[in-house]
Amino acid sequence: MADSPIKKATLHIRRGGAGAASHFDDFEVPYEDGMSVLDALRWIRVHLDSTLAIRYSCINANACKTCMALVDGEVEYTCIAKLAPKTVTVEPLPKRPLIRDLVTDIVPDEEKWATLKNLEVK
Ligand code: FES
Repeated sequence: MADSPIKKATLHIRRGGAGAASHFDDFEVPYEDGMSVLDALRWIRVHLDSTLAIRYSCINANACKTCMALVDGEVEYTCIAKLAPKTVTVEPLPKRPLIRDLVTDIVPDEEKWATLKNLEVK
């Protein structure tokens, strides 16, 4: 039997919520040259698991800075990190509080304090 002409990539993704034990899920996605890691994550949400928590806004303009994650151990913007037809490990940012799956709290502390000050009852 001939090999399939369709290339695949496997995303090995750390899952879990704040304060809970994490685990890894593997997702196989069709690979096309030029795909980003974010393209694969979005494909997974549409076709395999809509509960996968990811965050992005501008998709590939590298403008919103919300799609950061660890890709094979390196902090990357997933929208510009190139996917390869192999296994790629994706994890949440390690130094930010985890919300769920690949989503971490990335709001700077100064911004949180400024927001809280504005909410004070006067
Ligand atoms: S999605 Fe906006 S910088 Fe990556």
